[in-house]
Amino acid sequence: MSEHIETLTIRRPDDWHVHLRDGAMLGAVADFTARVFARAIVMPNLDPPVTTPEAAAAYRARILDAVPKDSGFTPLMTCYLMEDTDPEVVARGFADGAFAAVKLYPKYATTNAAYGVNDVRKVYPVLDRMQAIGMPLLLHGEVMDADVDIFDREALFVDRVLGRLLADFPALNVVLEHLTSAAAATFVRDHQTGREGRLGATITAHHLHITRNALFEDGFRPHMYCLPLAKREEDKRALRAAATSGESAFFLGTDSAPHAVDAKEADFGCAGVFTAHAALELYARAFAEEEALDRLEAFASLNGPAFYGLPPNEGRVRLVRDDTPISESIDVEGRAPVRPFFAGQPVGWRVETENGDHAQAGRTAHGGEARPSGS
Ligand code: DOR
Ligand code: ZN
Repeated sequence: MSEHIETLTIRRPDDWHVHLRDGAMLGAVADFTARVFARAIVMPNLDPPVTTPEAAAAYRARILDAVPKDSGFTPLMTCYLMEDTDPEVVARGFADGAFAAVKLYPKYATTNAAYGVNDVRKVYPVLDRMQAIGMPLLLHGEVMDADVDIFDREALFVDRVLGRLLADFPALNVVLEHLTSAAAATFVRDHQTGREGRLGATITAHHLHITRNALFEDGFRPHMYCLPLAKREEDKRALRAAATSGESAFFLGTDSAPHAVDAKEADFGCAGVFTAHAALELYARAFAEEEALDRLEAFASLNGPAFYGLPPNEGRVRLVRDDTPISESIDVEGRAPVRPFFAGQPVGWRVETENGDHAQAGRTAHGGEARPSGS
């Protein structure tokens, strides 16, 4: 089942959750995001993490240095929440535009989450201040209790932590990031209205395409390892239903998370799937399979800005059917390459941007290496 629409033009989208990293990795991946997306919420889980307005401004400048000057790309920076974060620092960063939001990682939940939050009550003074000034809280929604099955971490977070948080901070704007379970999608749908603050959720491209089976297809597949883990088929179906529903609570956030192949293919391998090279194309593939391409613009370009109180972008991008395979690897200067999602396979679409010169980024006809054009 797949819609036979050959081309689709939508408003230029935004990526409301992305990892751009730093240094050589930033140089290798930033253009993939900037060529398509006008704005991106940039995750702060560097090492050391981004915790001050000054660090966010410096990181923002490095990102702008790494993307083509004509990309029209705006990074929106986030503050990494720690148990001893000072509410004044957060409020100052929001007031002067250095921070767009605060990101809460449960301690040890994922990459560079060692400085994260163990006891949510310890950050209540920060949340109180954020509620007062209208600053959004972005949640990595997993409980980390040792006795909880890793596939149940998200559903139990929603059950044990999120409901309580929303009740204690009725006016706080909250995004539950990278939904992976039917339980979380249902929770967001049921709680998006009825309180003063907004509740939204991002959905990644890869969670619309894989289930946990992908981790073990003909052997262990470290490049399918991300957190939260992909769940069951019924969860994937629920995520597809949410993304294609057109409901304003659900919007695009790739969680594109590049790691060099030697960090993925290792004991203690890193969590993260890299999708920025074909992100909008991967969403288009899922929406076409659901015969919902007419809802892609709401999900990719309208619902996110509405949540963040920003205008939608004026530019347009065009999706065109294209069966060229994704390249096998993305070069990183001086380091091992990154293996892109769908490596060696066609996604079925390519994006044409208004300046038209980035259309083949991340793809080669022969499945060899590719670099983002313009870098
Ligand atoms: O798979 C993931 N990778 N999930 C996260 O939450 C973080 C990310 C990363 O930074 O590598
Ligand atoms: Zn992430």
